[in-house]
Amino acid sequence: MAKPQYHIFVCNSFRLTGEPQGVCNKKGARDLLQYLEEEIINRGLDAQVSSTGCLKVCTRGPAMVVYPAGWWYGEMTEQKAEAVLDALEAGEPATEFLMDS
Ligand code: FES
Repeated sequence: MAKPQYHIFVCNSFRLTGEPQGVCNKKGARDLLQYLEEEIINRGLDAQVSSTGCLKVCTRGPAMVVYPAGWWYGEMTEQKAEAVLDALEAGEPATEFLMDS
């Protein structure tokens, strides 16, 4: 398997028990995951998306991070995710949605 250029991790709030119980999941992260999966394919982006457990930035959820760049995004919506993918196609972060440290 070839490694993707970008790997997008979307918090889906999984706890140690495997239950998705947290802010991101309750605020639509599952739909966001589906949206990103479809858009990556439609755009032919060299990227992979995976769901994760809590990224520990719950107050800013739904949260996601793009590696290897380490671009963290919070309060994500499909509209914001679209802008993130637009920027990713240019190899750039969507700076207006980046989390402050
Ligand atoms: S539940 Fe998503 S950052 Fe904590």
